[in-house]
Amino acid sequence: MANLFDRWAPLMAQRDALFGDGINPFNVVMDEVLSQTEATIGGRHTILVGTNNYLGLTFQPEALKAAHDALDACGTGTTGSRMANGTYYGHKDLETALCDFFQKKHAMVFSTGFLANMGILSTLMGPEDFILMDADCHASIYDGVRGSSAQVIRFKHNDPADLDKRLARLADKPGNKLIVVEGIYSMLGDKAPMAEFAAVKRKYENVYLLSDEAHSMGVCGRYGRGVPEEAGVEDDVDFIVGTFSKSVGTVGGFCVSNLDNFDTLRLVTRAYIFTASLPPSVVASATVNLEIIKNGGVLRKRIERNSEQLHSGLAALGLKIASDVSPVVAVVAPDPVTAIAFWRGLIEAGVYVNLALPPATPFGYCLLRASICAAHTEEQLDRVIGIFADVATKLGLIDTDTQKVAARA
Ligand SMILES: Cc1ncc(COP(=O)(O)O)c(C=O)c1O
Repeated sequence: MANLFDRWAPLMAQRDALFGDGINPFNVVMDEVLSQTEATIGGRHTILVGTNNYLGLTFQPEALKAAHDALDACGTGTTGSRMANGTYYGHKDLETALCDFFQKKHAMVFSTGFLANMGILSTLMGPEDFILMDADCHASIYDGVRGSSAQVIRFKHNDPADLDKRLARLADKPGNKLIVVEGIYSMLGDKAPMAEFAAVKRKYENVYLLSDEAHSMGVCGRYGRGVPEEAGVEDDVDFIVGTFSKSVGTVGGFCVSNLDNFDTLRLVTRAYIFTASLPPSVVASATVNLEIIKNGGVLRKRIERNSEQLHSGLAALGLKIASDVSPVVAVVAPDPVTAIAFWRGLIEAGVYVNLALPPATPFGYCLLRASICAAHTEEQLDRVIGIFADVATKLGLIDTDTQKVAARA
């Protein structure tokens, strides 16, 4: 009888050949978490430049206190679904805080951002409807639309003209249409042209817009409401999906909307109904951190400054950077073998970044994905840039003359 796992044998063989016996980039263990930006990994003090802890709120004292209080008051978990015994006062308070934060009438809290996308996207549109999604959307969006009975159409990444063309073809179809985009894309940190997408949406009847603000919440917009706020088109975005696992510094997901009858979704969304709700301690820390994010102008400035430092520092070395200045700095390696050697060189010198390989990356890039935290210091980022320089030089990715020029700059 064939082994159950045989169909993945080629993948496993390829992985074994690539990783050999060295440190596996997809199996990193944090032995000790020292702060938002530092940990001990493999016995080595390491600067973390590959988290999604954009605002550095994971050790925020008020959030820690709220979480401890909730643990004492309510225990370690709810042991139930939101629809049954898993809605505590904290879940309702968090939904109220989300409505206040995003200035929307309705909010639904899910157990993860993945489940929020799965739940909303598989449920919202019916068999007569259409979902038009950006081709570079996250796996949770792909999995969500896969569960939908609507027809799914992909348009070119960040291309409002392509979306317009596809919507025009559907103009005489009676069904509703849902456009799905992300505010900032995780791999290259590129931003959606949200104002242009909103303008395309306004041209047609029965069209809704959903934006996943996972990577832009807290980072973009004066009050951290993400790319729709920054682009001045919040009223055009009918649904914002997001996560607490990045800027909010904990775990969980949500969807907010101004549409009447939004709460109907609580009765029909399987990823909301058939899973346990978030632990009260998580809910309490998310609620506190939302308030900090709203008033987090100083943190957003720090991210901007840090992004500029890391981006310009790595670009000056002569490395190929696939991202614009953003909290994600994606360095391109020429091939998977070099990318792994690069990643290992960094981790052995005390820098953790994410390794991202095709097919998980756009354009088939092999990426060293660095990401910024507001809590990174100038000295930490200087050190990171220096270590990138050493490792890249050893791998022959930059010549020493370029490096000398960079050091003088
Ligand atoms: C764009 C996007 N959406 C959704 C998610 C899922 O978020 P969560 O970690 O809360 O499941 C992620 C996480 O990587 C993401 O990058």
